[in-house]
Amino acid sequence: MSVTPIRLFGDPVLRTPAAPVVDFDAELRQLVADLTETMFEAGGAGLAAPQLGVGLRVFTWFVDGEVGHLVNPDVTPAGEETEEAPEGCLSIPGFRFDCRRHLHVAATGWNMHGEPVRIEGSHLLARAVQHETDHLDGVLFVDRLDDGARAAALAEIQQAEWAGMGAYTPVVKVSPH
Ligand code: NI
Repeated sequence: MSVTPIRLFGDPVLRTPAAPVVDFDAELRQLVADLTETMFEAGGAGLAAPQLGVGLRVFTWFVDGEVGHLVNPDVTPAGEETEEAPEGCLSIPGFRFDCRRHLHVAATGWNMHGEPVRIEGSHLLARAVQHETDHLDGVLFVDRLDDGARAAALAEIQQAEWAGMGAYTPVVKVSPH
């Protein structure tokens, strides 16, 4: 496994719809391992393959102590309830904006061994699944904000110290002791 640089807002790969996985092979298992390790290192609740520059429909999540991954996901809202809460993205580091999401979702797909998987989640897990699936369609969470909030968010992001950098490699913050 290896920690892989995370692409930043502005990189065209984040705006490119990802292709379905066809081969459930060693390369896919390596991708899941890289996503998982990079997500842990960056302290994220989820990470999608396009964020590592890979245009495949795969993401990982880490919510409430549980780690998982999903290949070729198909996400369906469960019920009508929504929730607005602060959301962030490892490709837009340092920013959080209130974003409205479905409160409950069900997702089907495959694991890296090609076995069918079904996930049901609420709150943060539901939010992570929706956020990461958006990444696979070239959609970023700021796109989901209301017009006014989105314009304000984009203006803030343009001023980020990392704006225009392209990518960064997450590193564990080690205490001085
Ligand atoms: Ni994200």
